[in-house]
Amino acid sequence: MVDLKHSNSLLSELASANPNMTDLDRLTNLYWGLTSVLRADVPGAVVELGCNAGLTSVLFASVILAEDPGRELHLFDSFEGLPAPSAHDAYLKEGDCRTSPAELRASFAKWELPEPTVHPGWFDTTLEEGVPPQVAFAYLDSDFYESILISLEHVWPRLAPGGSIVIDDYCDAELNPRAWNGLPGVKKACDDYFGPRGVSGRVLVGAGDLAFIEYRKP
Ligand SMILES: C[S@@+](CC[C@H](N)C(=O)[O-])C[C@H]1O[C@@H](n2cnc3c(N)ncnc32)[C@H](O)[C@@H]1O
Repeated sequence: MVDLKHSNSLLSELASANPNMTDLDRLTNLYWGLTSVLRADVPGAVVELGCNAGLTSVLFASVILAEDPGRELHLFDSFEGLPAPSAHDAYLKEGDCRTSPAELRASFAKWELPEPTVHPGWFDTTLEEGVPPQVAFAYLDSDFYESILISLEHVWPRLAPGGSIVIDDYCDAELNPRAWNGLPGVKKACDDYFGPRGVSGRVLVGAGDLAFIEYRKP
């Protein structure tokens, strides 16, 4: 059982276990992002869209256990890997990052965490019904333009006041020159969604190649 009340050493364990998808910078930002939302009593669920084998979801479950055990955690993934890329996407290809619900369950069992609510399937079939009516904190990590766009369409309108969305792979080369710029479709989806709405995000800078942006609901 993880005990985040007394040590956050879980972060370095998860960074070592999942080097292709995360690192200490990402996990530390997610740890404080979720902790601050829960401590502020922002109402709603915690969701991760693009959870893969659950090696970041385990962190969310542990923070929930330490801060507010009644919170719902909802996880979404095709478990068939990525869909076909659009013209805006690069680097990864269809089927990359394939995993399974069994691997996700094994991650939760390894760290002795309560089972989350899992929504297997493509976002265009799971998000409408599966994203709870009120969301406090969301992590969007689905790599491609269409996947991030549909995630924003379903999460932003349900985000509670004071709630937060953190998105991986948003590279703003001017504000954050060290950021990894492998998945340009992510920034384009965010800019296409939030630009016409007049909403600005906060680019988060790390010691390594962190490429996070956070959008908060006023
Ligand atoms: C980089 S991985 C997520 C990593 C995970 N958040 C972590 O930190 O370990 C991206 C995931 O997004 C999922 N994904 C991308 N587009 C999707 C879509 N349209 N529907 C369902 N899953 C999708 C892929 O299956 C893949 O597992």
